[in-house]
Amino acid sequence: MADTTAAYDSITRASLEEKASTKWSTYPGKIGAFVAEMDYGVAEPIRQVLKDLDARDLYGYPPADIVTALREATAGFYAQRYGWNIAADHVDTISDVLSGLGAVLDVFAPAGGKVILPTPAYMPFMTLPGMHDREIVEVPLHRNDAAGRWDFDFAALDAAMATGGPDGTSGGVLIMCNPHNPIGKVYSREEMEQIAAIVAKHGGRVFSDEIHAPLVYDGAEHVPYATINADTAAHTITATSHSKSFNTPGLKCAQILFSNDEDLALWQKKCVFTSHGASNPGIMAGTAAYTKGLDWLAATKDYLQGNRDLVAQRLSEELPEVVYIKPSGTYLGWIDCSALGIDGNVQEYFLEHAGIAFTDGELCGAVGAKHVRLNQGLPRPILNELLDRFIASAKEALGK
Ligand SMILES: Cc1ncc(COP(=O)(O)O)c(C=O)c1O
Repeated sequence: MADTTAAYDSITRASLEEKASTKWSTYPGKIGAFVAEMDYGVAEPIRQVLKDLDARDLYGYPPADIVTALREATAGFYAQRYGWNIAADHVDTISDVLSGLGAVLDVFAPAGGKVILPTPAYMPFMTLPGMHDREIVEVPLHRNDAAGRWDFDFAALDAAMATGGPDGTSGGVLIMCNPHNPIGKVYSREEMEQIAAIVAKHGGRVFSDEIHAPLVYDGAEHVPYATINADTAAHTITATSHSKSFNTPGLKCAQILFSNDEDLALWQKKCVFTSHGASNPGIMAGTAAYTKGLDWLAATKDYLQGNRDLVAQRLSEELPEVVYIKPSGTYLGWIDCSALGIDGNVQEYFLEHAGIAFTDGELCGAVGAKHVRLNQGLPRPILNELLDRFIASAKEALGK
Protein backbone atom coordinates (compact mmCIF):
# COMPACT_ATOMS: atom_id res chain seq x y z
CA MET A 1 0.00 0.00 0.00
CA ALA A 2 1.32 3.42 -0.98
CA ASP A 3 1.80 5.89 1.87
CA THR A 4 -0.02 9.06 0.99
CA THR A 5 0.74 10.81 4.27
CA ALA A 6 3.31 13.23 2.87
CA ALA A 7 1.19 14.01 -0.19
CA TYR A 8 -2.00 14.62 1.82
CA ASP A 9 -0.16 16.54 4.55
CA SER A 10 1.24 18.91 1.95
CA ILE A 11 -2.17 20.05 0.64
CA THR A 12 -2.47 23.66 1.71
CA ARG A 13 -5.43 25.72 2.73
CA ALA A 14 -4.59 28.25 0.01
CA SER A 15 -4.80 25.56 -2.69
CA LEU A 16 -8.14 24.32 -1.35
CA GLU A 17 -9.55 27.84 -1.19
CA GLU A 18 -8.41 28.42 -4.73
CA LYS A 19 -10.21 25.28 -5.96
CA ALA A 20 -13.25 26.56 -4.05
CA SER A 21 -15.20 23.32 -3.62
CA THR A 22 -18.51 23.58 -1.74
CA LYS A 23 -16.66 22.80 1.48
CA TRP A 24 -14.16 25.62 0.95
CA SER A 25 -16.34 28.28 -0.68
CA THR A 26 -19.60 28.29 1.30
CA TYR A 27 -18.04 30.00 4.33
CA PRO A 28 -15.18 32.10 2.93
CA GLY A 29 -12.22 32.41 5.26
CA LYS A 30 -13.38 29.57 7.54
CA ILE A 31 -12.04 26.01 7.80
CA GLY A 32 -14.48 23.88 5.78
CA ALA A 33 -15.37 20.88 7.94
CA PHE A 34 -19.02 20.30 7.15
CA VAL A 35 -20.27 18.74 3.87
CA ALA A 36 -19.00 15.17 3.32
CA GLU A 37 -16.26 15.59 0.76
CA MET A 38 -12.57 14.84 1.32
CA ASP A 39 -9.76 17.22 0.41
CA TYR A 40 -7.52 14.61 -1.21
CA GLY A 41 -8.73 14.60 -4.81
CA VAL A 42 -9.38 11.24 -6.47
CA ALA A 43 -7.51 8.08 -7.50
CA GLU A 44 -5.58 8.28 -10.76
CA PRO A 45 -7.77 5.63 -12.51
CA ILE A 46 -10.77 7.92 -11.93
CA ARG A 47 -9.00 10.86 -13.55
CA GLN A 48 -8.19 8.55 -16.46
CA VAL A 49 -11.84 7.59 -17.14
CA LEU A 50 -12.72 11.21 -17.69
CA LYS A 51 -10.07 11.28 -20.42
CA ASP A 52 -11.39 7.97 -21.82
CA LEU A 53 -14.91 9.38 -21.86
CA ASP A 54 -13.75 12.35 -23.87
CA ALA A 55 -11.69 10.21 -26.24
CA ARG A 56 -14.77 8.05 -26.93
CA ASP A 57 -16.96 11.15 -27.18
CA LEU A 58 -19.39 9.68 -24.67
CA TYR A 59 -21.55 12.75 -24.16
CA GLY A 60 -24.79 11.00 -25.07
CA TYR A 61 -26.97 8.70 -22.97
CA PRO A 62 -25.09 5.91 -21.16
CA PRO A 63 -24.44 2.98 -23.51
CA ALA A 64 -25.18 -0.51 -22.18
CA ASP A 65 -21.53 -1.55 -21.98
CA ILE A 66 -20.59 1.04 -19.32
CA VAL A 67 -23.69 0.27 -17.25
CA THR A 68 -23.00 -3.47 -17.41
CA ALA A 69 -19.39 -2.88 -16.45
CA LEU A 70 -20.45 -0.96 -13.32
CA ARG A 71 -23.01 -3.62 -12.35
CA GLU A 72 -20.30 -6.25 -12.60
CA ALA A 73 -17.74 -4.11 -10.80
CA THR A 74 -20.17 -3.40 -7.93
CA ALA A 75 -21.05 -7.10 -7.60
CA GLY A 76 -17.34 -7.98 -7.67
CA PHE A 77 -16.50 -5.37 -5.02
CA TYR A 78 -19.30 -6.58 -2.73
CA ALA A 79 -18.29 -10.23 -3.21
CA GLN A 80 -14.61 -9.63 -2.60
CA ARG A 81 -14.90 -7.15 0.24
CA TYR A 82 -18.02 -8.30 2.10
CA GLY A 83 -18.65 -11.85 0.87
CA TRP A 84 -22.02 -10.99 -0.72
CA ASN A 85 -22.28 -12.88 -4.01
CA ILE A 86 -24.98 -10.74 -5.54
CA ALA A 87 -25.70 -11.28 -9.24
CA ALA A 88 -24.68 -8.32 -11.41
CA ASP A 89 -28.21 -8.14 -12.84
CA HIS A 90 -29.53 -7.46 -9.32
CA VAL A 91 -27.51 -4.24 -9.21
CA ASP A 92 -28.75 -1.08 -10.91
CA THR A 93 -27.48 2.47 -11.26
CA ILE A 94 -29.09 5.60 -9.82
CA SER A 95 -27.91 9.21 -9.71
CA ASP A 96 -27.41 9.18 -5.95
CA VAL A 97 -28.41 7.34 -2.81
CA LEU A 98 -31.07 9.90 -1.90
CA SER A 99 -32.94 9.40 -5.19
CA GLY A 100 -32.89 5.67 -4.36
CA LEU A 101 -34.43 6.37 -0.98
CA GLY A 102 -37.12 8.57 -2.54
CA ALA A 103 -38.02 5.82 -5.01
CA VAL A 104 -38.13 3.19 -2.27
CA LEU A 105 -40.55 5.33 -0.24
CA ASP A 106 -42.76 6.04 -3.26
CA VAL A 107 -42.87 2.56 -4.75
CA PHE A 108 -41.95 -0.06 -2.14
CA ALA A 109 -43.69 1.07 1.02
CA PRO A 110 -47.45 1.47 1.38
CA ALA A 111 -48.71 5.07 1.45
CA GLY A 112 -49.38 6.36 4.94
CA GLY A 113 -46.65 4.27 6.55
CA LYS A 114 -43.91 5.88 8.62
CA VAL A 115 -40.16 6.18 8.32
CA ILE A 116 -38.29 4.97 11.37
CA LEU A 117 -35.07 6.82 11.83
CA PRO A 118 -32.30 6.06 14.32
CA THR A 119 -30.90 9.40 15.45
CA PRO A 120 -28.67 11.36 15.35
CA ALA A 121 -29.19 10.94 11.61
CA TYR A 122 -27.65 12.14 8.33
CA MET A 123 -29.36 15.51 7.81
CA PRO A 124 -31.39 14.78 4.62
CA PHE A 125 -32.93 11.74 6.33
CA MET A 126 -34.70 14.25 8.58
CA THR A 127 -36.22 16.18 5.67
CA LEU A 128 -36.58 13.82 2.68
CA PRO A 129 -39.34 11.57 4.12
CA GLY A 130 -41.64 14.60 4.58
CA MET A 131 -41.15 15.45 0.90
CA HIS A 132 -42.57 11.98 0.17
CA ASP A 133 -45.48 12.45 2.59
CA ARG A 134 -43.94 10.29 5.27
CA GLU A 135 -43.96 10.99 8.96
CA ILE A 136 -40.71 10.27 10.79
CA VAL A 137 -40.44 8.42 14.08
CA GLU A 138 -37.07 9.14 15.67
CA VAL A 139 -35.44 6.22 17.48
CA PRO A 140 -32.47 7.75 19.35
CA LEU A 141 -29.34 5.65 19.81
CA HIS A 142 -27.92 5.56 23.33
CA ARG A 143 -24.43 6.77 23.97
CA ASN A 144 -22.51 4.43 26.21
CA ASP A 145 -19.61 6.57 27.44
CA ALA A 146 -18.09 3.90 29.67
CA ALA A 147 -17.87 1.44 26.78
CA GLY A 148 -17.04 4.11 24.21
CA ARG A 149 -19.81 3.07 21.82
CA TRP A 150 -23.39 3.71 20.71
CA ASP A 151 -26.13 1.20 21.53
CA PHE A 152 -29.20 0.62 19.37
CA ASP A 153 -32.58 0.86 21.12
CA PHE A 154 -34.32 -2.37 20.11
CA ALA A 155 -37.35 -1.71 22.34
CA ALA A 156 -37.88 1.71 20.70
CA LEU A 157 -37.68 0.13 17.24
CA ASP A 158 -40.19 -2.52 18.29
CA ALA A 159 -42.59 0.14 19.58
CA ALA A 160 -42.18 2.30 16.45
CA MET A 161 -42.76 -0.61 14.08
CA ALA A 162 -45.79 -1.83 16.03
CA THR A 163 -47.66 1.20 14.63
CA GLY A 164 -45.37 2.16 11.72
CA GLY A 165 -47.67 1.01 8.91
CA PRO A 166 -50.67 2.85 7.41
CA ASP A 167 -53.45 3.75 9.87
CA GLY A 168 -51.49 2.57 12.89
CA THR A 169 -51.01 -0.97 11.63
CA SER A 170 -47.58 -2.56 12.04
CA GLY A 171 -44.78 -1.95 9.56
CA GLY A 172 -42.86 1.10 8.35
CA VAL A 173 -39.51 1.67 6.70
CA LEU A 174 -36.39 1.60 8.86
CA ILE A 175 -33.49 3.61 7.48
CA MET A 176 -30.36 1.68 8.45
CA CYS A 177 -27.31 3.82 7.89
CA ASN A 178 -24.33 1.52 8.26
CA PRO A 179 -21.71 2.85 8.88
CA HIS A 180 -23.86 5.41 10.64
CA ASN A 181 -23.48 9.05 9.66
CA PRO A 182 -22.89 11.19 11.82
CA ILE A 183 -21.60 8.97 14.67
CA GLY A 184 -19.48 6.48 12.71
CA LYS A 185 -21.06 3.44 14.34
CA VAL A 186 -20.55 0.16 12.48
CA TYR A 187 -23.33 -2.31 13.31
CA SER A 188 -22.36 -5.78 14.46
CA ARG A 189 -23.91 -8.93 13.03
CA GLU A 190 -25.58 -9.60 16.41
CA GLU A 191 -27.20 -6.17 16.49
CA MET A 192 -28.48 -6.61 12.95
CA GLU A 193 -29.89 -10.04 13.80
CA GLN A 194 -31.93 -8.44 16.58
CA ILE A 195 -33.06 -5.60 14.32
CA ALA A 196 -33.99 -8.14 11.62
CA ALA A 197 -36.19 -10.14 14.01
CA ILE A 198 -38.13 -7.00 14.97
CA VAL A 199 -38.57 -5.83 11.36
CA ALA A 200 -39.70 -9.31 10.26
CA LYS A 201 -42.13 -9.58 13.17
CA HIS A 202 -43.86 -6.36 12.11
CA GLY A 203 -43.68 -6.87 8.35
CA GLY A 204 -41.53 -3.74 7.95
CA ARG A 205 -39.00 -2.81 5.31
CA VAL A 206 -35.38 -1.66 5.53
CA PHE A 207 -33.51 0.82 3.38
CA SER A 208 -29.88 -0.06 4.01
CA ASP A 209 -27.60 2.87 3.19
CA GLU A 210 -24.05 1.51 2.94
CA ILE A 211 -22.44 4.46 1.23
CA HIS A 212 -19.67 4.68 3.85
CA ALA A 213 -18.97 0.92 3.97
CA PRO A 214 -15.54 1.02 2.29
CA LEU A 215 -14.33 3.32 5.08
CA VAL A 216 -14.45 1.00 8.09
CA TYR A 217 -11.39 1.09 10.36
CA ASP A 218 -9.26 -1.58 12.01
CA GLY A 219 -11.20 -3.63 14.53
CA ALA A 220 -14.59 -3.27 12.82
CA GLU A 221 -16.12 -5.10 9.88
CA HIS A 222 -18.85 -4.11 7.46
CA VAL A 223 -21.56 -6.76 7.08
CA PRO A 224 -24.25 -5.91 4.49
CA TYR A 225 -27.61 -5.98 6.31
CA ALA A 226 -29.28 -7.88 3.44
CA THR A 227 -26.86 -10.79 3.96
CA ILE A 228 -27.76 -11.45 7.61
CA ASN A 229 -30.46 -14.03 6.86
CA ALA A 230 -33.39 -14.87 4.56
CA ASP A 231 -35.62 -12.29 6.28
CA THR A 232 -33.20 -9.43 5.72
CA ALA A 233 -32.69 -10.47 2.09
CA ALA A 234 -36.47 -10.34 1.67
CA HIS A 235 -37.22 -7.06 3.44
CA THR A 236 -34.21 -4.95 2.41
CA ILE A 237 -33.26 -2.69 -0.45
CA THR A 238 -29.61 -1.67 -0.29
CA ALA A 239 -28.04 1.48 -1.69
CA THR A 240 -24.39 2.32 -1.93
CA SER A 241 -22.00 4.39 -3.99
CA HIS A 242 -18.33 4.94 -4.64
CA SER A 243 -19.05 8.65 -4.18
CA LYS A 244 -18.04 9.03 -0.51
CA SER A 245 -15.18 6.56 -0.23
CA PHE A 246 -13.65 7.49 -3.60
CA ASN A 247 -14.61 11.16 -3.29
CA THR A 248 -16.72 11.68 -6.42
CA PRO A 249 -20.15 12.95 -5.23
CA GLY A 250 -20.26 15.58 -7.98
CA LEU A 251 -20.17 12.91 -10.69
CA LYS A 252 -23.65 11.67 -9.75
CA CYS A 253 -23.79 7.91 -9.67
CA ALA A 254 -24.80 5.41 -7.01
CA GLN A 255 -25.90 1.78 -6.99
CA ILE A 256 -29.03 0.05 -5.75
CA LEU A 257 -28.84 -3.66 -4.85
CA PHE A 258 -31.80 -6.03 -4.84
CA SER A 259 -31.79 -9.12 -2.67
CA ASN A 260 -35.46 -9.90 -3.39
CA ASP A 261 -36.58 -10.85 -6.91
CA GLU A 262 -40.05 -9.32 -6.50
CA ASP A 263 -38.49 -5.98 -5.57
CA LEU A 264 -36.25 -6.17 -8.61
CA ALA A 265 -39.23 -6.85 -10.87
CA LEU A 266 -41.15 -3.91 -9.38
CA TRP A 267 -38.09 -1.68 -9.75
CA GLN A 268 -37.76 -2.62 -13.42
CA LYS A 269 -41.43 -1.87 -13.96
CA LYS A 270 -41.81 1.39 -12.05
CA CYS A 271 -38.41 3.00 -11.64
CA VAL A 272 -36.96 3.03 -15.14
CA PHE A 273 -36.29 6.76 -15.13
CA THR A 274 -34.76 6.74 -11.65
CA SER A 275 -32.32 4.14 -12.90
CA HIS A 276 -31.52 6.39 -15.89
CA GLY A 277 -30.38 9.16 -13.56
CA ALA A 278 -26.72 8.18 -13.34
CA SER A 279 -24.25 10.12 -15.47
CA ASN A 280 -21.60 8.67 -17.80
CA PRO A 281 -18.65 10.09 -15.83
CA GLY A 282 -20.16 8.78 -12.58
CA ILE A 283 -20.79 5.32 -14.04
CA MET A 284 -17.30 5.03 -15.48
CA ALA A 285 -15.72 6.42 -12.32
CA GLY A 286 -17.57 3.77 -10.30
CA THR A 287 -16.13 0.95 -12.37
CA ALA A 288 -12.65 2.41 -12.13
CA ALA A 289 -13.00 2.91 -8.37
CA TYR A 290 -14.20 -0.61 -7.63
CA THR A 291 -11.67 -2.32 -9.89
CA LYS A 292 -8.60 -0.09 -10.00
CA GLY A 293 -8.93 2.25 -7.03
CA LEU A 294 -8.31 -0.19 -4.21
CA ASP A 295 -4.75 0.91 -3.40
CA TRP A 296 -5.88 4.53 -3.24
CA LEU A 297 -8.76 3.48 -1.00
CA ALA A 298 -6.48 1.55 1.37
CA ALA A 299 -4.02 4.42 1.65
CA THR A 300 -6.76 7.00 2.13
CA LYS A 301 -8.49 4.90 4.77
CA ASP A 302 -5.22 4.56 6.61
CA TYR A 303 -4.73 8.33 6.61
CA LEU A 304 -8.32 8.90 7.78
CA GLN A 305 -7.85 6.43 10.61
CA GLY A 306 -4.81 8.44 11.67
CA ASN A 307 -6.91 11.61 11.60
CA ARG A 308 -9.58 9.94 13.70
CA ASP A 309 -6.99 8.83 16.27
CA LEU A 310 -5.54 12.33 16.37
CA VAL A 311 -8.94 13.90 17.08
CA ALA A 312 -9.66 11.34 19.81
CA GLN A 313 -6.31 11.82 21.46
CA ARG A 314 -6.23 15.61 21.37
CA LEU A 315 -9.80 16.00 22.61
CA SER A 316 -9.38 13.55 25.46
CA GLU A 317 -6.11 15.17 26.58
CA GLU A 318 -6.84 18.83 25.95
CA LEU A 319 -10.63 19.17 26.15
CA PRO A 320 -12.11 16.37 28.27
CA GLU A 321 -15.31 18.43 28.70
CA VAL A 322 -16.52 17.41 25.22
CA VAL A 323 -17.57 13.86 24.35
CA TYR A 324 -16.25 12.22 21.19
CA ILE A 325 -16.91 8.50 20.79
CA LYS A 326 -14.26 7.22 18.39
CA PRO A 327 -16.02 6.46 15.10
CA SER A 328 -15.41 2.92 13.74
CA GLY A 329 -16.10 4.05 10.19
CA THR A 330 -16.74 7.16 8.02
CA TYR A 331 -14.60 10.30 8.06
CA LEU A 332 -17.16 12.07 10.23
CA GLY A 333 -16.95 12.77 13.93
CA TRP A 334 -19.73 13.73 16.34
CA ILE A 335 -18.85 16.05 19.21
CA ASP A 336 -21.08 16.71 22.22
CA CYS A 337 -20.40 20.31 23.29
CA SER A 338 -23.19 20.55 25.86
CA ALA A 339 -20.79 20.80 28.82
CA LEU A 340 -19.16 23.93 27.38
CA GLY A 341 -21.99 26.16 28.58
CA ILE A 342 -22.37 27.94 25.24
CA ASP A 343 -25.64 29.88 24.94
CA GLY A 344 -27.49 29.34 21.68
CA ASN A 345 -26.34 27.36 18.71
CA VAL A 346 -22.87 25.78 19.03
CA GLN A 347 -22.24 25.54 15.26
CA GLU A 348 -22.75 29.31 14.98
CA TYR A 349 -20.53 29.88 18.01
CA PHE A 350 -17.57 28.02 16.49
CA LEU A 351 -18.13 29.57 13.06
CA GLU A 352 -17.88 33.02 14.60
CA HIS A 353 -15.33 32.47 17.38
CA ALA A 354 -13.06 29.79 15.89
CA GLY A 355 -13.50 30.23 12.14
CA ILE A 356 -14.61 26.60 11.77
CA ALA A 357 -17.56 25.55 9.61
CA PHE A 358 -18.94 22.40 11.27
CA THR A 359 -22.30 20.80 10.45
CA ASP A 360 -24.96 21.89 12.92
CA GLY A 361 -25.96 18.90 15.07
CA GLU A 362 -29.52 20.25 15.31
CA LEU A 363 -29.99 19.18 11.68
CA CYS A 364 -29.45 15.56 12.76
CA GLY A 365 -32.51 15.26 15.00
CA ALA A 366 -33.69 16.39 18.41
CA VAL A 367 -30.74 14.67 20.09
CA GLY A 368 -28.30 16.82 18.11
CA ALA A 369 -28.76 20.06 20.07
CA LYS A 370 -25.37 21.35 21.34
CA HIS A 371 -23.53 18.93 19.05
CA VAL A 372 -21.48 19.49 15.93
CA ARG A 373 -20.46 17.10 13.17
CA LEU A 374 -16.82 17.34 12.17
CA ASN A 375 -15.59 16.32 8.72
CA GLN A 376 -12.20 14.76 9.48
CA GLY A 377 -11.30 14.35 5.82
CA LEU A 378 -8.86 17.25 5.98
CA PRO A 379 -5.10 17.40 5.46
CA ARG A 380 -3.67 16.66 8.91
CA PRO A 381 -1.96 20.03 9.43
CA ILE A 382 -5.31 21.74 8.76
CA LEU A 383 -7.03 19.29 11.10
CA ASN A 384 -4.51 20.24 13.78
CA GLU A 385 -5.17 23.93 13.16
CA LEU A 386 -8.90 23.25 13.45
CA LEU A 387 -8.35 21.43 16.75
CA ASP A 388 -6.15 24.27 18.07
CA ARG A 389 -8.89 26.78 17.33
CA PHE A 390 -11.72 24.56 18.58
CA ILE A 391 -9.97 23.81 21.87
CA ALA A 392 -9.01 27.47 22.43
CA SER A 393 -12.51 28.82 21.84
CA ALA A 394 -14.11 26.01 23.84
CA LYS A 395 -11.82 26.91 26.74
CA GLU A 396 -12.84 30.55 26.35
CA ALA A 397 -16.47 29.48 26.67
CA LEU A 398 -15.54 27.52 29.79
CA GLY A 399 -13.81 30.60 31.20
CA LYS A 400 -10.45 28.78 31.31
C1 LIG B 1 -25.16 8.26 4.84
C2 LIG B 1 -25.26 9.04 3.58
N1 LIG B 1 -26.18 8.71 2.68
C3 LIG B 1 -26.32 9.39 1.53
C4 LIG B 1 -25.49 10.47 1.26
C5 LIG B 1 -25.70 11.22 0.00
O1 LIG B 1 -25.29 10.47 -1.04
P1 LIG B 1 -25.78 10.80 -2.49
O2 LIG B 1 -25.06 12.05 -2.90
O3 LIG B 1 -25.37 9.60 -3.28
O4 LIG B 1 -27.26 10.98 -2.40
C6 LIG B 1 -24.51 10.84 2.17
C7 LIG B 1 -23.65 11.99 1.90
O5 LIG B 1 -22.92 12.46 2.72
C8 LIG B 1 -24.39 10.11 3.35
O6 LIG B 1 -23.46 10.41 4.28
